[in-house]
This record gives sequence, C-alpha cells and structure tokens, in this order.
Amino acid sequence: MKHGLLLLTLLASLCSTPARSTPTATPSADRAIEAKITALMARMTLTEKVGQLNFPSYAFPREPQLEAVKQGRIGGLLNVVNPAHVKDFEAVVQASRLKIPLLFAIDAIYAFHISFPTPIAWAATWRPELAERAAEAIALETAQTGVNLTFAPMIDISRDPRWGRVIEGAGEDPLLGAAFAAARVRGYRKGGLATSAKHFVGYGAPEGGRDYNGAQISAPELFDRYIPPFQAAIEAGSETVMASFNTVNGVPVTANRRLITDVLKTRLGFDGLVMSDFAAIMELKNHGVAADLADAARRALHAGIDFDMESKAYDRHLEAAVEAGKVPISEVDAAVRRILRVKYRMGLFEDSPGGVRKIPAKMDEETVRKRAREVARESFVLLKNSGATLPITEASGTVALIGSAALSTNDHSWYGPADLEKPRTETLLNALLTRIGDRQRLLYSEAFADPCGQSFKDKEHALSIARGADLIVLIVSEDCTVSGEGASRADLTLSGVQQEMLDALSKIGKPIALVVETGRPLALSAANELVASMLIAWNPGTEGRTALAEVLLGEVAPSGKLPMTFPRSVGQIPISYSDLPTSRPATGDRYTTGYVDEKPTPLYPFGHGLSYTTFEYSGLKISAPAVRANGKIEVRVEVKNAGLRAGQEVVQLYTRQTVASRSRPMRELKGFEKIALQPGEQRTVRFMLPASALGYHDEDGNKIVEAGPIRVFVGGSSAADLETGFDITD
Ligand code: BGC
Repeated sequence: MKHGLLLLTLLASLCSTPARSTPTATPSADRAIEAKITALMARMTLTEKVGQLNFPSYAFPREPQLEAVKQGRIGGLLNVVNPAHVKDFEAVVQASRLKIPLLFAIDAIYAFHISFPTPIAWAATWRPELAERAAEAIALETAQTGVNLTFAPMIDISRDPRWGRVIEGAGEDPLLGAAFAAARVRGYRKGGLATSAKHFVGYGAPEGGRDYNGAQISAPELFDRYIPPFQAAIEAGSETVMASFNTVNGVPVTANRRLITDVLKTRLGFDGLVMSDFAAIMELKNHGVAADLADAARRALHAGIDFDMESKAYDRHLEAAVEAGKVPISEVDAAVRRILRVKYRMGLFEDSPGGVRKIPAKMDEETVRKRAREVARESFVLLKNSGATLPITEASGTVALIGSAALSTNDHSWYGPADLEKPRTETLLNALLTRIGDRQRLLYSEAFADPCGQSFKDKEHALSIARGADLIVLIVSEDCTVSGEGASRADLTLSGVQQEMLDALSKIGKPIALVVETGRPLALSAANELVASMLIAWNPGTEGRTALAEVLLGEVAPSGKLPMTFPRSVGQIPISYSDLPTSRPATGDRYTTGYVDEKPTPLYPFGHGLSYTTFEYSGLKISAPAVRANGKIEVRVEVKNAGLRAGQEVVQLYTRQTVASRSRPMRELKGFEKIALQPGEQRTVRFMLPASALGYHDEDGNKIVEAGPIRVFVGGSSAADLETGFDITD
C-alpha cells in the first residue's frame, strides 16, 4: 500500500502525550501530596472549599478582603505587588483556621522592573535559551515581592497580526512556539514563580483579528497548530493553565467541557489547576450561554474551570448550588484538589516538598540588564539591506537620523511597584552619539511631535538635514498603546504621518535605512519600495536602544529571523508559509489562487532575516532514502559564512508531504539551529528527524503518520530552496 495510513493513536487515548509528572515531584512525593490533600480536605467546610476557588483582584479598602482570607474564602489574589501587603495577607492566613497559603499572581511577562523586549522579539532570536534566561531574570525580580505566580507565558499561536496580542507570544509556528513555551516555563520557574500557560485555546485565531472574537478551528488545526505549545508548557512543568475568553466553534472555552476536561485535563494529562481569564465566568452571560451569574458558575465548574478569576461567581453561588443539589460536591472537590495540589507542588505549605517557591536570591541589576540587552541584540530582524547600506561605518559619510522615537525612553514597562524608580533607559540618539564620537557627523531631527509620528513637529528641518547627509536613518514606531490586549488594528501601515515623511525623504535621492519599532508585523509594502535597508526592532525594552545602536553601527551583526509573516497588505491576512496548497497554485494567471490586486506572496516570509554577511548552504544529505513510521532520519547540511564579517545564522529545516489523505501544509518547520560563523568558516549542521514528527491529526483527532513522499528543504528562511527528499514506508 503506497500511501497507507499508520494510525498512531486512537480516539480512546486521543494523544500520544504521557500523563504529566512534575520535574520537582517524584511519584512518591506525588502520593504524599495527594494524601496530605485528602487529609486537609476532610477538615474543610463547604465554605472553605469554595473559598479556595475564589481568585479576586486586590481591592481597597483592604479590610473586607483581609477578613475574607481569615474566613478561608479566598484562594489567591491578583496584583498584590507590595511586599508589605503580601506579608499582611500571609499574617492573616496564619490566623485562619486551616492556614492554607494564598497564590499571589501578576502579569510578569516581559518586565517587572527592567523591561525586556516584548515576547514576539524573544521568538525572533530563535534561541529559546535566551528566553529562558530572560524569564528567569524577570521572575527573580518579581518573586522578591512575595508574588508566587505569573500569568505567563502567553503561548497562543497566531497568524493574524491585526490581533494586538501577537506581541505577547511567539508568532505563527507550532514548533517554534512550543520551543519558546517550554523555555519560558523553565525560566520563570527557575526564577521562583509558578507559571500559567495561556490562553487555552485558539485565542490567537479570532475571526477578523478582533480581540475576544470567536475562532473556528478544525480538529486537525487544533491539534497540529494550537495545542503543541500547551503540550510543551505542561511537559515543562507549568503548574497552571488559563482558559481563553473566546468561543471555539461556537462554544466559549470557559464553558467548554470538551476542551477543558476532555482535551486539556484528560488527553494532555494536565493535573494542575485551570483558571478562568479575568471575569470570563461572568462574561458567559455576554456570550449568550448563561442566564445569570449562578448559571455561569455552574457551567464553568462543570466545564473544568477550577479557579474563578475576578467574577466572584463561585464565591457567590457555588455553596448554595451544592446545597440545593444543583452542583455535585464532587465537582467542587475536584477543583479544590487541583488548587491544593498546585500549592503543595509550589512549596507554599510549611511541609511541602520541593517546589518553585524557595525564596530566590536577588539578581543584581547589571546582570538583568545584560540579559535584556542580549535578547534585544539577537531579536532585530534585517529584512532588507541593498548595497550593504547598513551597518553605518565611516564610509557611510554624514548620517541624518530622523524621528522622535530616537529620543524615546519608553521601554514599554508593564509592572513595577510604586517604590521602585523607573530604570534608566538610553535613547537611540545618545547611544549612537556615544559610540560615533567625533568619528563622523551625525545630524538629528525629531520630525514628529510624538514618538509614533501622529503629527509633524518640523518636517522641513528633517528634510534639510537629510539633504546635507549621505545616509538617512529614519526611525518609525508603532506605539505600544496600539499593541497588546484590546488593540486589534484594521490598518497595519505606518501610522500618522510617518509614511508621508518617508515619501518626502525618498525624493532627496539618498539611501534610506528604515528602523521600525513595532509590536506586530506591519504591512510595509509602500515603505519597502523606498528604502535600501529595513530593520525591525520590535519593542526593544530598557536596554533596547543601546542594542539597536550596536547593531546599526555593526558592533553586533543582526541575527533575528521573522517568527511571523510580514504581509504585503491587510487583505492578505491570514497568510502563512504553512498554508495548505490549493487546486490552482499561484502562477500569476487569473484563474489561480491569489488576488487580482495584490501578489499572492507575503512581503517577507516566516523565517526570513539577513545578516551583515551572507551564508551559503550546500551538501544537503539524508541518511537513508526511506524510513519507517517509527524510524528516524538524519538530515545534514554544510553552512558557510561566505562574507567578510562574523555572523549568526538560523539554519531551518522544513518538510512537505506531497501526497497524503488530507492536503498537507506547503511547508512545515521541523527543526532549527542558530549557529555563529566567522568569515570563511564552514560547519556541518545535523538534524535528527523522527518520522513521527511528520505526522498530523485527522478530523477525529487521531494522530497519523502516513506513508508517502516527503520533500525536505533547508536554508535560512521558509523560502529555502536547497532540497532533497525521502519516503515514509509502511
Ligand atoms: C488577560 C490575561 C491576563 C489577565 C490578568 C486578562 O484580561 O487576557 O492574559 O493575565 O487579564 O491581568
């Protein structure tokens, strides 16, 4: 049978994922914890049980909440970041009957005091180990306050840059996303925080890119695209998972028993706690699936939501519902057990074994800054560099730097207790001036009245310095207020008057290097036409402008690669290198796939990014012409730095199954490695590819590895053209 199906898993078990075991707990420690939980639960009243499921925001005046904690009616609190306040609550816990410790949680995602670049930039480094170091440093800063849980990592896969929350994730690819999910979980946990992998699931696929909107996701897409990062986060030990706000195929995740209980808890083997998102239980009424808050509480608990963030639905209604026989006590007990399990595993109880919650030593600020700069340096993506316009060297002559973002010290900080001073942040202008000294002339004009160029301050001044320069460096910025939650955009071109500035500068006839600070892929076709170089700097954080100066001046070579496709225009979205083929592949002919008013290809594909040197790929080899479904194959390639500067390259491996029972993606990332090469240096890069990694899920959620031909592509982006192939055999 040439293309026979090899069914690896069947509906009953639904997945090859083994049941989770935490890295900190041995099975016997697990048994000991379960016994302690059983003993503790035997002593709990119904009020105290329901209290564990209640997770409100810190509120003022504090007295009612302190009293509620004393009565055992709160299991955890959001947004207590003042160490003295944490201590006050802990003292009240000690005065309570059962002394059950609290979870203290905040969104320590990419910053607490020192801001790291935003997480999409972490993914652009293609070095998960940098993300791990970043997460550890952030967690160490945060944990000093007594906070013990972060609402991170955000690991939603998204192919839609209109959605503002792509800034918090790792972009569009499940393999890259899973690698970063696991690294981030490891890092935060090393730094003393438990994690919350969020948002389960499909939040990154809202229709129209509108935040909170519903997603339509088929079973193959769910398991092949959206779940792998969650599976990786769970395997890395994430103690908690946050359910998403949205509907999936019409059912809100917060009330979706199939997704929360059957898939997450049973199939993926997740035995930690599942929390709702902020007020999401209450919002089940808005979704039109609950009549009132009491109904919402029953539905969410039945779906498998253990912890009620902010809705107070469980607090207000579960006790009465259990007493009235409307909610089985077993559902409450199951949720309580998960919450206590997490508290034990975190080491919050006096007699907890291991766990993340040993008070970690503080990391000194210089080390945190060093880590932040390290991520920033490797995250910048050089999309274009005609005529080696960058880096700026003496040979570049007089440089005109234009744009008020060059004066910005906005590090997009998210958190930071009031008593900590805002960290010192260098501007790009200063960072460049310090480095250039009197080596060459650097002229500067703000041009815009604000950092994101909504209006002009002095367009003429900018044009006049540009006329007197040999190289124009224009910095433009998407303001952070238009990225993040609740910040979907319908237009992804440069905002305000930034494009108008660029148009005017381009008429001068000098080479232009465009630097773009952004939280998401933008539609930069118009800009791309006019510039020689284009560098994506994301939102680079406290050390970001220093790192940017280093890269612009060539002290460090850019080495980032796109974790998400840059479209030509909004109308192309969603567009991904891993789209399915169509009946009529694009040829430019009208009756093939594409648009009559736009090219079918993106402006820059996933995985793309240049250096100041070039890399040559050769000698692509596979270890065998065929492999069985349970076998492995080695893919080997030679990579050479063919230029005159040192640089780093992300070597990427893609596959395509050309004949199968379902249409398979045109390409799928199956491996990557970032390597550093000196000029002239050549290295052999090897990937071990198990045939099982080439499988996919069918409409019933079964994982299948199908016999058939596999094409293999290796190179520096998803458009890699060095190709070989092999067969999977029965
Ligand atoms: C967001 C979550 C966040 C929570 C608490 C919600 O609006 O969707 O990602 O963790 O608020 O701040």
